[in-house]
Amino acid sequence: MHLYPLIRPFAFALDAEAAHRATIAALKFMPTHRPAALPSSLRTRVAGLDFPSPVGLAAGFDKDAEVPEQMLSLGFGFVEVGTVTPRPQQGNDRPRLFRLSEDKAVINRMGFNNRGQPSAFERLQRCANLPGIIGVNIGANKDSADRVADYVAGVRAMSGVADYLTINISSPNTPGLRQLQDESALRALLSAIGEARLPNGPPIFLKVAPDLGEAEPDQIVRVALHCGVDAIIVANTTVSRPELKSRYKGEQGGLSGAPLKALALKALRDFRSASGGEIALIGVGGIATADDAWERICAGASLVQLYSAMVYDGPGIARGIALGLAKRLRLHGFTSISEAVGSDAG
Ligand SMILES: Cc1cc2nc3c(=O)[nH]c(=O)nc-3n(C[C@H](O)[C@H](O)[C@H](O)COP(=O)(O)O)c2cc1C
Repeated sequence: MHLYPLIRPFAFALDAEAAHRATIAALKFMPTHRPAALPSSLRTRVAGLDFPSPVGLAAGFDKDAEVPEQMLSLGFGFVEVGTVTPRPQQGNDRPRLFRLSEDKAVINRMGFNNRGQPSAFERLQRCANLPGIIGVNIGANKDSADRVADYVAGVRAMSGVADYLTINISSPNTPGLRQLQDESALRALLSAIGEARLPNGPPIFLKVAPDLGEAEPDQIVRVALHCGVDAIIVANTTVSRPELKSRYKGEQGGLSGAPLKALALKALRDFRSASGGEIALIGVGGIATADDAWERICAGASLVQLYSAMVYDGPGIARGIALGLAKRLRLHGFTSISEAVGSDAG
């Protein structure tokens, strides 16, 4: 994908949300093909699923499952679509998406804009026979009177078309959503999901915020293990504001990209020490290079995901990082990703 440096100035001339819409529209016309083969050392098994590469596309880019096949063709080992809510919703007023170019960052307060689960279900049915892993990230409607019921509905509605389901309780843009991370609320939510999931249904991943108190990783891991969660995705965007240069730095919403990197890595380390490797972890937040991905894997991530770095470096980034990981495996004398997972964790 050496085209991206040519396309980028046109995309960056548009406001961020228009550029995103134009990218999705263009991707729909992209001929899809079987992804080019990656070194076999990158193959890895997590939560009973076989991933061709540990580098995935994070939720929020393809909210309505419009282009998962194209993103797999471009070299992502897996694609997480969503967040999808039971009913369609508009999200917040525009502008709600900002590129902080000087900081290689993004701020968004989209607010789960999506066309609803039935519409995503229909599109994903067409992907059923694709050779690739597609996860579905589910959330609650903003005006829902019973958020637990929304997640249970999401598990029931999307299990048939998802290789895995992500319970997203960490978006900062749906008021009160992050309170579901509190121990008793989380226990109630995950118990209800545990009862609703089918014995042969997809594994369940839980996505957490990077802005947690000191005791929270321990509590979340304890509840997640008790309720049979298969993996924890660390982390969503941050509401904190490390030092930023861009004129958009005062915008409300979740910050992602380079300034999130240190915080997301620390959160991953906290979850690794809380879990001691008992539950699979997926590292996300500020990953832009093979070194970033390698650092996350050595700190305990079995898989990684990214979104913001693709805005700046183009979709070829996934394959580049995957090949860089294969090189680092060789250099360290490892034959597989799983040998490297947590190798720094002590
Ligand atoms: C524009 C935008 C929309 C996002 N929407 C979602 C979403 O709907 N659900 C979700 O779980 N995460 C969402 N995220 C968070 C990403 O999945 C990811 O956790 C976060 O951006 C950190 O990764 P990054 O620094 O590589 O972007 C969104 C991120 C961005 C930038």
